[in-house]
Amino acid sequence: MRITVIGSGYVGLVTGACLSDLGFKVVCLDKDEEKIRSLQEGVVPIYEPGLKELLARNRADGRIRFTTNVSEAIEHGDIIFIAVGTPPAEDGSADLGHVLSVAATIGRHLKGFKLVVNKSTVPVGTADRVRVAISHELSHRGMPLDYFDVISNPEFLKEGAAIDDFMRPDRIVVGVDDGVNQVKSKRMMGDLYASFNRHHSRTVWMDVRSAELTKYAANAMLATRISFMNEIANLADILGADVDQIRRGIGADSRIGHGFLYAGCGYGGSCFPKDTQALVSTAKAHGQLMRLVSATEQVNENQKTLLVDRLTQRMGSDLTGRKIAVWGLSFKPNTDDMREATSRVVIQSLLKLGAQVCAYDPVAGSEALIALKADCEHKPGLMDRFELASDDMQALEGADALMVLTEWKIFHNPDFQAMKALMRRPFILDGRNLYNPEALSEMGIAYQGVGRRNDLAQLLSFEAETASDVSQTSDQENRLQMINA
Ligand SMILES: NC(=O)c1ccc[n+]([C@@H]2O[C@H](COP(=O)([O-])OP(=O)(O)OC[C@H]3O[C@@H](n4cnc5c(N)ncnc54)[C@H](O)[C@@H]3O)[C@@H](O)[C@H]2O)c1
Repeated sequence: MRITVIGSGYVGLVTGACLSDLGFKVVCLDKDEEKIRSLQEGVVPIYEPGLKELLARNRADGRIRFTTNVSEAIEHGDIIFIAVGTPPAEDGSADLGHVLSVAATIGRHLKGFKLVVNKSTVPVGTADRVRVAISHELSHRGMPLDYFDVISNPEFLKEGAAIDDFMRPDRIVVGVDDGVNQVKSKRMMGDLYASFNRHHSRTVWMDVRSAELTKYAANAMLATRISFMNEIANLADILGADVDQIRRGIGADSRIGHGFLYAGCGYGGSCFPKDTQALVSTAKAHGQLMRLVSATEQVNENQKTLLVDRLTQRMGSDLTGRKIAVWGLSFKPNTDDMREATSRVVIQSLLKLGAQVCAYDPVAGSEALIALKADCEHKPGLMDRFELASDDMQALEGADALMVLTEWKIFHNPDFQAMKALMRRPFILDGRNLYNPEALSEMGIAYQGVGRRNDLAQLLSFEAETASDVSQTSDQENRLQMINA
């Protein structure tokens, strides 16, 4: 069986790379010529651990290639995966423009039976629309309408651990509907994923609509767990409890489990925010409210500005002359993906409040710069106060506070004494609860986590310093001199 993957982004590339590693002959198609050129030259346009090596190996062995040639790509695969983006439209619903355009393209080029597998995250009913789009083109060409089947195989990989997730899936959801091609489609998908089902069956077979909704239900559930813990953390902060202890306490309950119970400064990424929005929007279109999912989104929006709120509580809302260091820009570790990253909201807020921001990320620096420039496009001068540091320690020089926004491993065990020496004020706002509040307190470092005990940070009166230190200096140059002094 030969495989075509349409859309060579995070999901398409991982799918293509992993299937080629299982021995299938794979062609990856994308409409982005530059992306395909890079891939043909062995340059992988995204950062995903292990992906570069996997692609290089299978490219060298002739099992995977990349093209922009649509007819060649569609001719190649017995199975054609659709793995294009489904970004949010203005109203929050999933924009199916790319998916439906790919469907029409398939219909225009199809010559014999193809199994069209939708891997993109799409609202219920999309497979029907893909079917209609393909049939429409086939009937134009006078071709038989049973030359294809459309099924659903949503993807559950996590960026940063995508290869492992694909190669060792918890489950594989496949939605196939009744019809003339049902038996053939099930057999093909069974063969495709046979390697993963050898010890026990991981495939969960269902109808297409249920498969489509399963993906949204999974992401909404995970996002809800995070927002729930964030609300508990915010309450713990007020009550003097420690959310990390609470997390262990409830995670030990087998009915709850330990996963996705980490409080922090909000989730981001290309999936949870857009998928929860799309779910709410689908429900609304059918006259139903998704109250819980809407609340999950709302809590997350607030959580993204929590650290800035905590900072201004202590420093006042005019951060002019303050230098804030930021560690971590990507929405999570081990990726350079900046889509909906908390850092974008935090950095924009800090810049708007007058702060100078110096940020470090081990991988996502250049992607972050592109994203932040786009965010600040209509806010002249804002980005003038933003700079990227070349390493984590450089970001701290003369800083009035450090915000930790992404839990990259390199940030887990820093040299706190060196940090203290570099910073103008040793104050850490830990958006991922990486550090031990007591240990930092003993070192004389003010600490603000999310739902931790923050006694030292509470005691420090930054407001007073704000008044005496910098409020009089309106001239930018003087302010920078003061910071550097
Ligand atoms: N990124 C994730 O972690 C993840 C996980 C699970 C599911 N998903 C879902 O998978 C889908 C793809 O996500 P992604 O993150 O890989 O997106 P992406 O933006 O990284 O990649 C999409 C690719 O599709 C290409 N494309 C768009 N229209 C095309 C067309 N007509 N022909 C050929 N190529 C075309 C784009 O150029 C781009 O390279 C989305 O629906 C997403 O929700 C993503």
